[in-house]
Amino acid sequence: MDIERLRAETPGVSHRVHLNNAGAGLMPQPVIEAVKDHLDLESRIGGYEAKAQENERIEAAYSSVAQLIGADKSEIAFAENATVAWQWAFFAQDLKEGDRILTAEAEYAANYIAFLQIAKRTGCIIDIIPGDASGAVDPQALEKMIDGKVKLIAITWIPTNGGLVNPAVEIGKVAKSHGIPYLLDGCQAAGQMPVDVIHLGCDYLSVTGRKFLRGPRGTGFLYTSTEMLAQTEPCMLDLFGATWSTPGTYEMRPDARRFESWESSIALHLGLGAAVDYALNVGLEVIRERVRMLARSLRDALAEIPGVTVQDIGKEKCAIVTLSHNRIEADSIKAMLGEKHINVSVSRPPSTLLDASARELPNIVRVSPHYYNSEDELETFVQVLRHIVA
Ligand SMILES: Cc1ncc(COP(=O)(O)O)c(C=O)c1O
Repeated sequence: MDIERLRAETPGVSHRVHLNNAGAGLMPQPVIEAVKDHLDLESRIGGYEAKAQENERIEAAYSSVAQLIGADKSEIAFAENATVAWQWAFFAQDLKEGDRILTAEAEYAANYIAFLQIAKRTGCIIDIIPGDASGAVDPQALEKMIDGKVKLIAITWIPTNGGLVNPAVEIGKVAKSHGIPYLLDGCQAAGQMPVDVIHLGCDYLSVTGRKFLRGPRGTGFLYTSTEMLAQTEPCMLDLFGATWSTPGTYEMRPDARRFESWESSIALHLGLGAAVDYALNVGLEVIRERVRMLARSLRDALAEIPGVTVQDIGKEKCAIVTLSHNRIEADSIKAMLGEKHINVSVSRPPSTLLDASARELPNIVRVSPHYYNSEDELETFVQVLRHIVA
C-alpha cells in the first residue's frame, strides 16, 4: 500500500488527524470530484438531462457495489443511509404475534427501536442471543434457540462501539440450515474488510457509504438476495419501485431497486460508486490487514496510559477502538483532542443500550483509524491523550 499516495489523494489529512472513520471517513479526491462534477453538469445542462447523459456511469456504480460484496447488480438498491436500507428489509418482513426475532446484545439502537415498534404493533417477540465469553454472539447458543417461531435473525456484524466483529458467517450457517431470513447490518464492516454475501449466507445486508467506505454523506445501500427478492415486497412502493399497470393493479420491479423511490441524488450515487471503486483498487484484504494492525498498536499503546481502560470486546477485533478514563469524561477528552485537530467521536450508552448496560459502560471515546492514517498520526494522538490525562 502506497500510504503517501493515498494520503496525497485525501485532502482532509492536511488539516486534521482524522480518527473518526467509524463516524465518517475522509473522502478521497475521486469521490469529491465525482459528486462535484455531477452537480456542475446538472447546473449546466439540467438535472434530468445530466442523469440521461451519465446513465452508464450510474449503472457502473451499481455494478461496483455488487462487486464489492460479491452480489449481482440486480440485488442492489441505493439508499440515503444504512438505517433506511436496513428498515427497507426489516419492515418488509411479515411478522405476526408470537413470531420471534433473534438479535444480539450489541445491536444498534436504530435497529432495536424498529424491533420494539413492530413488537408493539404485532405482538412479536424480541430474543437476545447470548454472547460467548469474549462478548461476541455465540452461534451455538443461537442454534439452541431456534424453533418454528423464529422468523428473523437480525444482527449487527460490527457494532458501533467495542471493537467487536461478530461471527457473521457462523450465524449465516445456522440461519441457512433452518431457512430463516438473515438480515445483517454491515454498516461498520464495508470498507474496512472484505465482504462476500455468499460466504456470509445473509439474505439482506445494509451498508452506509460515508464510514469506512469513504463515500459522501447521505449514501448507503441494501443487498437483497435474488431468492429473497422473490418473496420480498417493500412496505412502501412508488412509481419507480412499481408500475401502475392497470387501474386496479401494479407490478413491482423485478430487481432490488423496487425499494428505491423515483427521486434521489445522482451526484451522491456517483460518489458512492467512486468510493467503492477506490476501495476495490486499494484492496479489501490489505485494508483489513492495515487497519487491524493500526488498531492493535493503538490498543497496546492505550493500555500503557494510567487511568485509561480499553473497552473493546470479542476475539476478533476491528478498526474501532474504544476507551474510557477513570477521571475525565469522554466528551471532555474529545473536546481537548479537537483543540489539537484530532478527530474522534463519543459513543453513548443509548446507541447500544443492552450491551452498555450489561457492561456498565459510561460514555466512551471511539477512535477509528483507517488505512490512510499514518503511524505518526497515531503516535501524535497517543502523546496528546497522555498529556490530557496526565
Ligand atoms: C452498527 C451500525 N449500524 C447502523 C448504523 C446507521 O448508519 P447510518 O447512520 O448510515 O444510517 C450505524 C451508524 O453509526 C452503525 O454503527
